Amino acid sequence: MKKRLFQIGVIMALGCGVAQADGYTQADRIADMQKMAQAMQDIQSGLLYNNLDIIKAGTKVLKETVVKVRPTDEEVNNKDIYEKWLNNNLKMTNKIQKKIRNKADTLEERFADGDAVQALQEYSKIIGQCMKCHVRLRKW
Ligand code: HEC
Repeated sequence: MKKRLFQIGVIMALGCGVAQADGYTQADRIADMQKMAQAMQDIQSGLLYNNLDIIKAGTKVLKETVVKVRPTDEEVNNKDIYEKWLNNNLKMTNKIQKKIRNKADTLEERFADGDAVQALQEYSKIIGQCMKCHVRLRKW
């Protein structure tokens, strides 16, 4: 059963396209995380300075980057760790990625509509999703 799950996982990973074949290292993931942290800071500045363009630049980077987050090649090749991702976290990861993208869209729309308070609420929901993964996956 365990072996079977792993095989399915490998097939899924291979099925994920060209980017997967290029490799995803821990350094790549850390860089992606830092990019997202910067994007969140930009969005915060946009909220505080009342600047939609800054917010849009931030949500764009955030949405483009969050979809890249996945197990590293090293984790994929390490049967035990990868199985852990598969069993516990891949579903969660996909869900969180979708939520962050949706909330980023909503944030932008609310702000464009002049509802800065609602936009801020979306902002804090996004951070909540970041922390959800950090707590559940990384046990931070
Ligand atoms: C699917 C899981 C997941 C999500 C979602 C996620 N993170 Fe992370 N984050 C990680 C992992 C795993 C690491 C550790 C990176 C590593 O060492 O490989 C990390 C590390 C970080 C770090 C530390 C990077 C460093 O320099 O060491 C920052 C900052 C960070 N994340 C920001 C964010 C922000 C901001 C968001 C939300 C917009 C976010 N993360 C969402 C999993 C996630």
